[in-house]
Amino acid sequence: MNVPLGLSRREFAKYLLAGPAVSLSALEGLNAGIYQKVTALNQKYLEDEAPDGPFWEEIRGLYDFEDRFIMMNNGTLGPMPKPVFNTLARYFRVQMTNPFDSYNYLPTFREAVRAKLAAFVNASPDEVALTSNTTEGLNFVINGLDLKDGDEVLTSNFEHPGHLGPWKLKEKRTGVRLKQVDLPITPRSVDEIVGAFAAAITPRTRMISVSHTVFITGLIAPLKELSRLARDKGLLIMADSAHGIGMLDLDMKALGMDFFASSPYKWLGAPTGIGLLYVRKEALDKVWPTVVSSGWETVQRAAKLDPSGQRSDAMLFALDEALNFNNRIGKSRIERRIKALSARLKQELGKISGAKVHTPSDPYLSAGLTAFSMAGVEPEKLVNYLREKYNLVIRTMGNREAGTYGVRVSTPIYISTKEIDMVVEGVRTLLGHRT
Ligand SMILES: Cc1ncc(COP(=O)(O)O)c(C=O)c1O
Repeated sequence: MNVPLGLSRREFAKYLLAGPAVSLSALEGLNAGIYQKVTALNQKYLEDEAPDGPFWEEIRGLYDFEDRFIMMNNGTLGPMPKPVFNTLARYFRVQMTNPFDSYNYLPTFREAVRAKLAAFVNASPDEVALTSNTTEGLNFVINGLDLKDGDEVLTSNFEHPGHLGPWKLKEKRTGVRLKQVDLPITPRSVDEIVGAFAAAITPRTRMISVSHTVFITGLIAPLKELSRLARDKGLLIMADSAHGIGMLDLDMKALGMDFFASSPYKWLGAPTGIGLLYVRKEALDKVWPTVVSSGWETVQRAAKLDPSGQRSDAMLFALDEALNFNNRIGKSRIERRIKALSARLKQELGKISGAKVHTPSDPYLSAGLTAFSMAGVEPEKLVNYLREKYNLVIRTMGNREAGTYGVRVSTPIYISTKEIDMVVEGVRTLLGHRT
């Protein structure tokens, strides 16, 4: 679409999108006001990593929870901070007021958002596909690989159905064999994990396909070391990192994955329905696209895996804003805070006899998900206790036969040690300890 003479791209955006109710400049003003405070506090408190200081209180205030609701389950989906919701609502509005702009103008931003997302995970924009969610990204890769009857793929015993389902389908259709590597509930070291995968490799093995952020136990798999193993043995490697983006300071170049899928609406603050699929440049020609329209034969970038057909561009703008939000705080600072909060939770649970933490304590092998069980106490009891007493949400997790049945607690940036203490109080009470 041509920009009218004399107007910059930015001015053009305002020209097109200046609606009477919430104009683009009003949106910018709204979000800029929010960020101004974050930036000022950021500069002031950058050195102060105290878990409950004014900086983090300000961040908490940027979430619009109803009636002192406390969200400590960032699986399935997490909350959007206010600037992201403002942006989402503004751009959905374009479809109501001016659908012509909605389909002509908004998609022109797609490449800018892709580039920002790529920079956020230290990848090239050519290596980033904009999917709808992790499950879709994993399906696209698994469906699109030319694996054949008898080829083996290694995975672990702690995989999510969104990762296992497409492999089971592939097994049925092609005769590919999915082999499960049994990891302990709480691995003690990187070597224990990498060694288990190394021992399972046979001449028929073609790929390692494994969870990065293990939803059952909270383990963070050592991807760097696993990708080194895969490379040494000439295997492809894929990570299901549904929780990774927004929880961990991700660096695709350092992790060395061929394929990596994540859901930015769990920890990053994006709206549900927009996903990241990373495909390493060298692996691009190994995967066919699945959902196509015209032109798919000529695209040589990961964008060939973007699903075709009309999609909501409001999601893209909201993802862009979620990236801005996280960049304002700082990726590594976010990871440090999340890990400091979960470390405190694990430490306090460690003092309670009868509480058994399933998540490793090593901060390299764990982050924002903490799973644990309580001797003689049904997990639902703690879920209900915390909801009724504190309006605090956690979830049950795992299964009895595997010894993983318990609860899982998320420690995102917007909570404080106060909420950790509520969880600990609940555990102590249900286990019959005095608080
Ligand atoms: C490890 C893992 N993989 C895949 C998924 C599926 O994610 P989505 O529904 O966002 O595709 C989840 C969901 O929480 C998960 O925890």
